[in-house]
Amino acid sequence: MTQSTSNAAAIGAASGASAKRGFWSSRMAFVLAATGSAVGLGNIWKFPYITGENGGGAFVLVYLLCIAVVGIPIMMAEVMIGRRGGRSPINSMRILTERDKLSLRWRWLAGVGVLASFLILSFYSVIGGWAVSYVGTAASGALSGQSAEVIGAIFSGLLGDPGKLLIWHTVFMALTMAVVVRGLRGGLERAVTILMPALFVLLLLLVGYAMTTGYFGQAVSFLFQPDFSKLTTEGVLVALGHAFFTLSLGMGVMMAYGSYLNKNVSIAKTSVLVSVMDTGVALLAGLAIFPIVFANGLEPGAGPGLIFQTLPLAFGQMPLGSLFGTLFFVLLVFAAWTSAISLLEPLVEWLEEQKGMNRLVSTLGAGGLCWLLGIASILSLNEWSGFAPLGMFAAFEGKTVFDLLDYLTANILLPLGGLLVAVFVGWFMARQALENELSLRGPWFTLWYGVLRYVTPVAVAIVFIYNLV
Ligand code: TRP
Repeated sequence: MTQSTSNAAAIGAASGASAKRGFWSSRMAFVLAATGSAVGLGNIWKFPYITGENGGGAFVLVYLLCIAVVGIPIMMAEVMIGRRGGRSPINSMRILTERDKLSLRWRWLAGVGVLASFLILSFYSVIGGWAVSYVGTAASGALSGQSAEVIGAIFSGLLGDPGKLLIWHTVFMALTMAVVVRGLRGGLERAVTILMPALFVLLLLLVGYAMTTGYFGQAVSFLFQPDFSKLTTEGVLVALGHAFFTLSLGMGVMMAYGSYLNKNVSIAKTSVLVSVMDTGVALLAGLAIFPIVFANGLEPGAGPGLIFQTLPLAFGQMPLGSLFGTLFFVLLVFAAWTSAISLLEPLVEWLEEQKGMNRLVSTLGAGGLCWLLGIASILSLNEWSGFAPLGMFAAFEGKTVFDLLDYLTANILLPLGGLLVAVFVGWFMARQALENELSLRGPWFTLWYGVLRYVTPVAVAIVFIYNLV
């Protein structure tokens, strides 16, 4: 990785007005970093299970619409704020508001993001820990040739054991902190260059296997034939929230990465490219998983354990399954890892900038707090599984700490952050500035601007109102 990209991790350090900031070594470096953040557990773990829980096709359609109408315009807006401000998210917002004489309160938009990233990382690391533990499980051969019952029991065994979960959560968080403390130096850019394509190839292989199960057609119709009777208003909110989650929007990550983007790169094309790759990985994961679900009579709405109960079955039955299984979970860990890094980075920056801590202390502090909160998510999978802290409210009935953190971040904080970005860029920034920054041709600019001003805020607001009232 070059000097310029290693600066990306040292945003806090480089955020002083006089600091010399680099740029991404190439457009490709930005695309890889942004894709590394976007493609993660959200695509391979979360997308399939929420699709299963929300009845398939209609949900997928709404999700794709949300990506196109809300996700891509907001990604462009975030990258643009970052590139124009040229600083860490909070300071970029400050610079932009000062320049246009707007309320300084807008910088709290980036504050919502810092809170969201803290909450997300706490449970993200727990799931990342599941993936780490499955590397060992797959490598040991314990999955080969097993029945769905045995595979299910292995998974429940993991969830029922807080000690094991804690160990793997700790390992995952330590991995994340180890990179953040050093800055994204050295191997990461190279690693992403190799690992992302490898993950893609392995997913294709799994889809190939899924085609041999005889249930591929059923899975395709489950995923792509909308049955609107299965769609609830909560499902629409989940789809919208997931569009933000999977594209890493609503909390300033793309602003941070955009601040290192060269002026001559097209923000629109790049954002579309990142979104398409992210969506592609999610759909491939769905096409790999659902045939196995149907072939083995499993429940599509099985919840967060879905991939851990289905993919091991496939690996258990295919030749060289232990090898491919191990490889798959290694790649899943990498995908989760690059995302987790992008979740911890803004927190660490914020501590450095606002509290004047050095990088080591801020990484240990932020990572340590996330780790601590993660323990609540671990316990809610076993000891506290019957504990619903906000259960007295109908909307949160039966939701454990883990469920609440997921709900609060993906369904409330991220869309709220995104809504504020859309309103800020669409209604407060000068149109001329946007035109210069995006250099989009006539009708494309009008389309983006119109969508960001009217469609995005209204869509988010309607979904909010329906669900919260
Ligand atoms: N997009 C990642 C995933 O799908 C998760 C993630 C990383 C994220 N950084 C983020 C989500 C920032 C929201 C905001 O797994």
